[in-house]
Amino acid sequence: MLVLGIETTCDETAAAVVERHDDKPGKILSNVVLSQVNEHAAFGGVVPEIAARAHVESLDRVIAKAMSDAGTNFAALDGVAAAAGPGLIGGVIVGLTTAKAIAMVSAKPMIAVNHLEAHALTPRLTDGVPFPYCLFLASGGHTQIVAVRSVGNYVRLGTTVDDAIGEAFDKTAKLLGLGYPGGPQVEKEAARGNPVRFMLPRPMHGRSEPDFSLSGLKTALRLEAEKIAPLSDQDVADLCASFQQAVVEVVLDRLRAGLRVFRERFGAPSALVAAGGVAANQAIRKALHRIGFEGGTVLVVPPPALCTDNGAMIAWAGAERLAAGLTDPLDTAPRARWPLDEVAGPQPAHSYFVAPKD
Ligand code: KG4
Ligand code: ZN
Repeated sequence: MLVLGIETTCDETAAAVVERHDDKPGKILSNVVLSQVNEHAAFGGVVPEIAARAHVESLDRVIAKAMSDAGTNFAALDGVAAAAGPGLIGGVIVGLTTAKAIAMVSAKPMIAVNHLEAHALTPRLTDGVPFPYCLFLASGGHTQIVAVRSVGNYVRLGTTVDDAIGEAFDKTAKLLGLGYPGGPQVEKEAARGNPVRFMLPRPMHGRSEPDFSLSGLKTALRLEAEKIAPLSDQDVADLCASFQQAVVEVVLDRLRAGLRVFRERFGAPSALVAAGGVAANQAIRKALHRIGFEGGTVLVVPPPALCTDNGAMIAWAGAERLAAGLTDPLDTAPRARWPLDEVAGPQPAHSYFVAPKD
């Protein structure tokens, strides 16, 4: 099964072609990601109008490259998938409309993919992980622990009650005068810092429900930074290291709780898997290995380039849905909000993007 996937929900314009065979990892034939980072950098965050315009300007080219890298053409495809949300609505409209147009002119099924579902299914693309598994999804807009039971069957076990982890990394970077996106910058600074210089809180520690809270940590960091301002380069590195260490310990504690709840409700998971941009962080990846080792649970973390937003994950989720007979009509609406677990409902309201004045 050959599927083209299109991703435009945030600040990457991406397209990929992926091949799927039953009960096997997928094969990525092409994976083109054009980052808009430079267009947003001056604003310290993603500006929705700039993002939507940049998607319009480059998406056709990105798709053409994905098709030629894969050595295929529209007629050979089995389906065309696009992320139909959640995300910045202007960008989502661009990607979804383009997918509809390609599907219509080439008479192929269209698959409207939930961006979060694409992150959730990526470990099956890379490693063919069988259901059910326990997913730690940590991106710029979401921090959740999810039981992935089958394609389309996701049970949210825990979520953040305020900021997402990626958002906390981004806001920390902004506070310390580091660039956007913040995660990689904070990680880089942390590598030369002292993780025990500042005593920062570990919110929710010890709670049995596997929920997260990050805003107290962010505030504590700001207060520490204000106390010692002006900040030297070493102060910045030490603040980053202390922040990252706190996040690592929060992740360890919350995931232990998540795995406990998973076992109680669904039995042993086939694996613990991580997805979303935050899973690109090496310190967090190490913590995940530790949890997997402790519980004898197989750990699957896709390579960093497949943790951050990309077209391959959309193509793969499209192929999984297509294999399950799930396709969508051409009047499918784009969605700014779209919870992965429709029963658990939407996330508590918090900003999905960092607005220029944030
Ligand atoms: O999944 P993703 O690429 O886009 C969304 O769907 O949000 O995740 C982006 C988020 C950003 O908040 C970014 O700062 C964070 O992932 N991130 C990281 C790292 N790389 C990306 N956070 C911590 N350490 C990293 N190395
Ligand atoms: Zn994402």
